[in-house]
Amino acid sequence: MEWRQMKSEVKKRLPEKRYEHVLRVVDMAERLADRHGISVKRAKKAALLHDVAKFMDREELRRIVIDYGEDESVLDFHHELWHAPAGAVIAREQFGIDDERILDAIRYHTTGRANMTSLEKVIYIADLVEEGRTFPGADTLRQYAQTATLEKGMLESVRHTVRFLLEKRAQVHPDSLACYNEHVQLVRETKE
Ligand SMILES: [Fe+2]
Ligand SMILES: [Fe+2]
Repeated sequence: MEWRQMKSEVKKRLPEKRYEHVLRVVDMAERLADRHGISVKRAKKAALLHDVAKFMDREELRRIVIDYGEDESVLDFHHELWHAPAGAVIAREQFGIDDERILDAIRYHTTGRANMTSLEKVIYIADLVEEGRTFPGADTLRQYAQTATLEKGMLESVRHTVRFLLEKRAQVHPDSLACYNEHVQLVRETKE
């Protein structure tokens, strides 16, 4: 599918505000990909499609996760997590994306995981620090993510998310904790 068509198909599936967020994630992903020397084209596609399933019916999301063999462990966690694996399915089945690297970036954009590819990290970070984000500390994190190494940017991003969940007394998916633990280690090793 051509970029323009992909954009209009995504736009159709999202409320205006969410679509605008998606476009800002595309911008940020482009910048980060360029900075870290990974394929800008791939990053833009993953960013454009990352929230494609965000406004689908909750039961439909559950069904997609089960029927397409995605990791069902997300179903035991907040439904906010379900659109990521379901989004990877939609990207493949309805947008014809067959590049597993793009699909994984969509699949893990909310939880993160251990052993993420650079593309996965770029999408995770871009989603969190796109220019429209206004949570406390957003400006600092945005600046940091655009100047630090990918590992450090990822550590601060996943740390923000895990801390946010802890403060709400919400559950944290094990992939997010694995991602956090791994990055603490990675950043420590580069310091030594
Ligand atoms: Fe999302
Ligand atoms: Fe998003």
